[in-house]
Amino acid sequence: MSLYFCRMYRLITPLLIGCLLASGARAQKSERLQPKPALLRLIDGSLRQAVNQYEILMSHVPPGRLPKTWYANAQRLETSDAGWWTSGFYSGTLFYLYEFSHDTALLDEAQNRLKLLEPEQFNKSTHDLGFMMYCSFGNGLRLLDSPRYKDILLNSARSLSTRFNPIVGCIKSWDSKPWHFPVIIDNMMNLELLLWATQVTGDTSFAHIAVTHANTTMRNHFRPDYSSYHVVDYDSATGAIIAKKTAQGYADSSAWARGQSWGLYGYTMVYRFTHDPRYLEQARHIAHFILTNPNLPADKIPYWDYNAPGIPPANAGGGARAAMGGPLRDASAGAIMASALIELSKYVAPKEGRGYLDVAEEIIVNLSSNTYKAVVGSNGGFILKHSVGNLPGHSEIDVPLTYADYYYIEAMLRYKELAQK
Ligand code: GLY
Repeated sequence: MSLYFCRMYRLITPLLIGCLLASGARAQKSERLQPKPALLRLIDGSLRQAVNQYEILMSHVPPGRLPKTWYANAQRLETSDAGWWTSGFYSGTLFYLYEFSHDTALLDEAQNRLKLLEPEQFNKSTHDLGFMMYCSFGNGLRLLDSPRYKDILLNSARSLSTRFNPIVGCIKSWDSKPWHFPVIIDNMMNLELLLWATQVTGDTSFAHIAVTHANTTMRNHFRPDYSSYHVVDYDSATGAIIAKKTAQGYADSSAWARGQSWGLYGYTMVYRFTHDPRYLEQARHIAHFILTNPNLPADKIPYWDYNAPGIPPANAGGGARAAMGGPLRDASAGAIMASALIELSKYVAPKEGRGYLDVAEEIIVNLSSNTYKAVVGSNGGFILKHSVGNLPGHSEIDVPLTYADYYYIEAMLRYKELAQK
């Protein structure tokens, strides 16, 4: 990090954090955008089906395990232990579905599975604690106001903070070789846990780490067109950049679809807490990259990478770009994008916000169609089909994923909230 940036951080960070504490985390709201009644009805139907699906999923998950995906050919549920980065999404989705349905069987299952995650509050070997703990215990705390959940979340924030290196200005993502100090764009999502921790405790050290990480990422992960690299590898002793690479995308220089969605969601969320217009600008730029991308399919559910080989040209006839044409889609990238765009629509001028909401609506409608949403009783109990976990790693290709379900349900609940406020 240059001396100039070090000085700027020292100057700006306390201002941002002061704003966070003073504001009670209510970002500027644009004029209220109205949800569409027909879509609200469709969402209610989809949520009811989702409850039915998760009741089926619940009956399959073995004790002591957490669901990851379903392999239809083998009719096999793949599960994980609590240490895997997706471990919190199952309880998180159950909490969301309980919030909608008031079905206490969902609540009981969410709380029971959370017991498995409790030891993770002290896990200092992963940057994914935000995903694992905030999506799960965070939703539990929001609904149940449990002091125990709050303590667990604060311990998790402390554990995550230990991975911050002030010389790099980032939280380290992975400890594995051949990386030195890798930071992945996904890590923007874990900042929500830290920003929340400052908000509830007044301890600004968490937010200091979060905004420093967001600033470093803004400077080093993004290309001039506001697409992002997946991984930036740093020298932990000097903060110098060693390499800009991909792990889950098509190429180092490509725009891995879920990474673009993580960035969009991440900067929108950091703006929610800080009100710093630089983060809002960043989110708007990322949205522009995604929404004007000639390789975004007509149904707005991204191919797994915006530069994946085999994408039909935008003007190809014969429905080449119709639903499911071309390379594999990543429904999870679409669901994350929809949820982020609904939030972003609230922070900008009404015309721009309406544009974001239009796309979010299209995504929700398309994910709710039979193309992407499973018929109740199929898909091993998962809600959405057609996500891609790690194509270069030959893992989770064109399958359901717990986080696709989580952000799809979150997007629909966020859309319903537009009618309430
Ligand atoms: N590491 C999170 C993801 O696969 O998106």
